[in-house]
Amino acid sequence: MKVAIITGASSGMGKWFSVYVPMFYPEIEEVWLVGRNVNRLEIVAKHVNASTKIIAVDLLSESGIETIKKLLEENKPEVDILINSAGVGMLGDFERLSVKESLETINLNCVVPTRLMHMIIPYMNKGSHLINMASGAAFICQPGFAVYAASKAYILSLGDALSKELRHRNIYVTTVCPGAVNTPFITKSQKYAKIRWFKKLIMANERCVVHLALWDSKKKKTRSIYGIYMLLFSVVCKVIPLKILMKFM
Ligand SMILES: NC(=O)c1ccc[n+]([C@@H]2O[C@H](COP(=O)([O-])OP(=O)(O)OC[C@H]3O[C@@H](n4cnc5c(N)ncnc54)[C@H](OP(=O)(O)O)[C@@H]3O)[C@@H](O)[C@H]2O)c1
Repeated sequence: MKVAIITGASSGMGKWFSVYVPMFYPEIEEVWLVGRNVNRLEIVAKHVNASTKIIAVDLLSESGIETIKKLLEENKPEVDILINSAGVGMLGDFERLSVKESLETINLNCVVPTRLMHMIIPYMNKGSHLINMASGAAFICQPGFAVYAASKAYILSLGDALSKELRHRNIYVTTVCPGAVNTPFITKSQKYAKIRWFKKLIMANERCVVHLALWDSKKKKTRSIYGIYMLLFSVVCKVIPLKILMKFM
């Protein structure tokens, strides 16, 4: 059976990936929706134009990861598309965050997708697609959003490397690097500090980011960067020395 596996499917961009994937990949027979909130997963499932499997697990728990492993072993699916969208991030200076919050960010944004990719890539065949959600925060260190930016730099670097490693198996890896996107993530991230006004002004629409990510993945692009501001930002981060950029951060 040809399946798509989507983490973070209960909310924000993961929700829209779940809705759009069967439109981009009509050959998908079942979409596996992963998240913690079963009620929201059930609502999303109603809008997915394919059969769905709801996997309500906490990915930060060993039992959550084991559940997915068991489902793979029992169903032996052909995973045509894996999307790692589950993620968290907390604005605020490093010392304001608790150790628990920092470690959860690193675990959910780095350790979990790494574990899932180890588990799921063996079930992927020629022509499969892997999409990881990074962020524009991955392009440069971010004082006031330090752990999050570092976690996204990890997933961007890993994705770029895997896109090369997996090319010989015709598995295509795309890392998505949006700026601020209007999802519940924004509210959850503001426990200790507020989002900057200019980020609010240029906040992207979640459906547009997801739509472009799926197109870019189809086009076998290594990175998907939505919007002129983020494209410019990615170039600026490459050409201007860090020491100078830090003066404006
Ligand atoms: N929004 C932005 O401004 C922005 C910008 C750049 C990149 N990103 C990245 O894009 C991705 C999607 O973010 P979003 O904006 O769509 O955020 P969101 O609306 O807050 O969704 C986050 C998703 O992660 C899931 N999740 C959180 N903790 C989990 C856990 N322990 N176990 C299982 N699932 C868990 C949530 O599911 P439950 O609530 O059901 O647990 C939810 O479905 C994230 O990786 C984020 O870092 C976001």
